[in-house]
Amino acid sequence: MAFLPPWASALVGCISVSLAGAFNLSDLHPPLWNKSPGQFSDYRVENGKYIIDPWVYPKRMGMYKILLNKTASYFEKFAPDNELNLFWGLPLQHGWQYTTGRLVDPSQRTDCGYESGDHLCISVDSWWADMNYFLSALPFLAAVDSGIMGISSDKITLLPPPKDQTKFCLNISSCQSSFPKTMSKWNALYKQLQSLSSSFDDLIKYLWDAHISALKDAYKIFEDRLDYYSKPEGDFGRDWYVSLDYLAAAYFPTTIITVTEFQKALPPRVLVDSDRAPFISNFTDLQNTVLLGLNLLHQVDDATGSLSLAVWKILMKTEVARKIALKIFETILAAFQHF
Ligand SMILES: *[C@@H]1O[C@H](CO)[C@@H](O)[C@H](O)[C@H]1NC(C)=O
Ligand SMILES: *[C@@H]1O[C@H](CO)[C@@H](O)[C@H](O)[C@H]1NC(C)=O
Ligand SMILES: *[C@@H]1O[C@H](CO)[C@@H](O)[C@H](O)[C@H]1NC(C)=O
Ligand SMILES: *[C@@H]1O[C@H](CO)[C@@H](O)[C@H](O)[C@H]1NC(C)=O
Repeated sequence: MAFLPPWASALVGCISVSLAGAFNLSDLHPPLWNKSPGQFSDYRVENGKYIIDPWVYPKRMGMYKILLNKTASYFEKFAPDNELNLFWGLPLQHGWQYTTGRLVDPSQRTDCGYESGDHLCISVDSWWADMNYFLSALPFLAAVDSGIMGISSDKITLLPPPKDQTKFCLNISSCQSSFPKTMSKWNALYKQLQSLSSSFDDLIKYLWDAHISALKDAYKIFEDRLDYYSKPEGDFGRDWYVSLDYLAAAYFPTTIITVTEFQKALPPRVLVDSDRAPFISNFTDLQNTVLLGLNLLHQVDDATGSLSLAVWKILMKTEVARKIALKIFETILAAFQHF
């Protein structure tokens, strides 16, 4: 970890130690990782194009698996075994969405995603799934466009969802024309990745830039999907969306270990009407506290008209402050591990 800035190395190091014991990185892979396509040839080919259905969980996961595979060499200088690949955050979050029941049809009009129905189906009515589309299809297509995937741009087509097709871009050219700013940010990240001089910090910054831009595009389009959920779940979605800006500004390193640890703090199932943080009886203290904390952060952000975010961003411009923020975060995670 010699090439990491000290703050990131402290965070990654501390959490690694806390996980030591059961330490096998492949244990941390998202669900069905082994069953997901790991190379282009695992997908169907039609008229010379690979056809990917991003509305089937392992197929969407396969896009991440290929991305992780094709970007591995650029992260080797930071650590072996792809451990510090910053793209791990994306498939892990998607795995969390799957495990916690957030990809199912929240309107319950279809059996999409349900255990008793088509359990690998990703519902186009799921807010989480639609937000994730912009964090899976777009970075994947931009990676193809940037040349790092080793296939040409016209060789990929994504299948549309069963409805609302026009809300989703399906190939590189349509994503670029519909979401030019976000696609160029993903491209900027891949350019940075290929530049030998890029530091870990630089990559985190470019990644979060693209990530936040993608979420902003998606949020506008899909905000009304939150109406399908209970009030606590809808609030959590909004709180989560706002909080990511703060996490991004702190340069949270989205490696396999830090994100795995972080996810222990997130709600392990979709929230129901009777859920009131911090009093949700079958959540851990950490999950209750974080849920409440995200809501408070959102309220502060609203009350100050996002001035709090502006101030936070200024604070986080210095490496020392980012180090302190991550240290606090790490201390909270560590403290709760004993409960
Ligand atoms: C880690 O787990 C994988 C799959 O479960 C296994 O193939 C591999 O040998 C394990 N590695 C170590 C170092 O235990
Ligand atoms: C990438 O995938 C190929 C083909 O499945 C495999 O041979 C290779 O070991 C993988 N590389 C990494 C770094 O995972
Ligand atoms: C890209 O997708 C759009 C629809 O989203 C379609 O009209 C267009 O023909 C596709 N372009 C290519 C090159 O496949
Ligand atoms: C947790 O609480 C919810 C809401 O009270 C309930 O529906 C669910 O069955 C509980 N789960 C477990 C594992 O106890």
